Amino acid sequence: MGKDVIIACDFASGEQTFAFLDKFTGRKPFVKIGMELYYAEGPAIVRQIKARGHKIFLDLKLHDIPNTVKKAMAVLRNLDVDITNLHAAGTTAMMTAALEGLTRPDGTRPLLIAVTQLTSTDQQSMERDLLIHAPIDQVVMHYARTARDAGLDGIVCSPLEAGKVHDACGKNFLTVTPGVRFADGDSGDQKRVMTPAQAKAIGSDYIVVGRPITAAADPVAAYERCVAEFCD
Ligand code: C5P
Repeated sequence: MGKDVIIACDFASGEQTFAFLDKFTGRKPFVKIGMELYYAEGPAIVRQIKARGHKIFLDLKLHDIPNTVKKAMAVLRNLDVDITNLHAAGTTAMMTAALEGLTRPDGTRPLLIAVTQLTSTDQQSMERDLLIHAPIDQVVMHYARTARDAGLDGIVCSPLEAGKVHDACGKNFLTVTPGVRFADGDSGDQKRVMTPAQAKAIGSDYIVVGRPITAAADPVAAYERCVAEFCD
């Protein structure tokens, strides 16, 4: 899989999601299904979007004991998604078990990527609530290396970190980067943002774009603009 734009379909229902996806009559975008939509509609929403011909990043961020995550991944592998994820904080044992569960009998599996520290966690909350005292950028890089060593395919990170992650973990280790905004757009609640063109220049493999596309007056044009800046 090469560079691509993934649309974060952060909708509360299948009805809203399909009304949105119906606008795309040409190219079928890669879509991200997160907890909100998955918990509202269940696995059927994944099958339905897949049946329409979209690639899917199932963003459920699993984190539990290794055996439970392994069994959950063994269920998710049957949904035939392209990418799914977990928290690197679950440790190497959990990540290794997840890979085992995700691997189908024929040896194929969806790509598995890790969330490092959530961007909602800052240095202060990490020290106070988690008793982690290293600088947060070192913590993120440590989690990235741990995920790579466990055999995962990449991580979710800020586009600002994508270059450093490739330097530390190799250029084939995928960086999937939210926090993307157009140069002339509203950054909303995203603080550390990059344009699609900047994300391309720094080496992001996939950009995850939500509101700049879903809330645009013309979502298809906004998507095509992302593709033109990032992929072409
Ligand atoms: O609307 P927006 O472009 O900000 O959406 C970004 C998407 O990426 C959302 O689904 C959000 O949950 C997700 N995400 C993020 N930052 C992270 C991890 C995931 O914005 N660190």
